[in-house]
Amino acid sequence: MKIAIVFDSRTGNTAQVAGAIRDACEGHDVVAFGPPPQNVDQAELVFAGSWTDKGSLTTAMQEFLHSLYGKRVALFGTAGFGISEMYFASLSDRFKGEVPKGNQVVSSFFCTGRMPQAVRDRYEEQLKADPGNAKLKSMLQAFDLALTHPDQRDLDQAADFAREVIKA
Ligand SMILES: Cc1cc2nc3c(=O)[nH]c(=O)nc-3n(C[C@H](O)[C@H](O)[C@H](O)COP(=O)(O)O)c2cc1C
Repeated sequence: MKIAIVFDSRTGNTAQVAGAIRDACEGHDVVAFGPPPQNVDQAELVFAGSWTDKGSLTTAMQEFLHSLYGKRVALFGTAGFGISEMYFASLSDRFKGEVPKGNQVVSSFFCTGRMPQAVRDRYEEQLKADPGNAKLKSMLQAFDLALTHPDQRDLDQAADFAREVIKA
């Protein structure tokens, strides 16, 4: 099968997941691998991934998805606030909403991805000014939970997701 893996990654988390997906494509023809734009004319299946920016996929990935027609599309992403399946489900809906009619979204996969230290520093500063702020405390907690992700389990799950999509 001809497969494209196109992804936007700012700090490397989504690229790591993309790498696990590429490894799972062994025996198939990976015709494109990297950030948008990519020529995916030859691809029958497109894995499209993004980091989460303000609750959505990046503009570059939105533009890439908008360019697709007649493809099987599997979506993936990483998110700093990956504390609930419900949040991942809402991200999946956001991502799916950017895939034009005429394509088929076959599956999606999300996992947690560590955030830059500057994000934690900012929350801490804000908490100093407002020590009782429960929302900030939960953001700090989410930051710390994300620190070890994506971990090997996330990458194994990404590979399983890719194999399932290829098999289907
Ligand atoms: C400017 C900025 C905005 C972000 N917005 C969100 C967000 O809305 N929701 C979320 O879950 N994570 C958010 N994050 C966290 C990243 O999506 C997460 O760390 C992701 O794994 C980064 O992927 P990358 O390493 O491939 O760039 C944000 C990070 C940055 C730097």
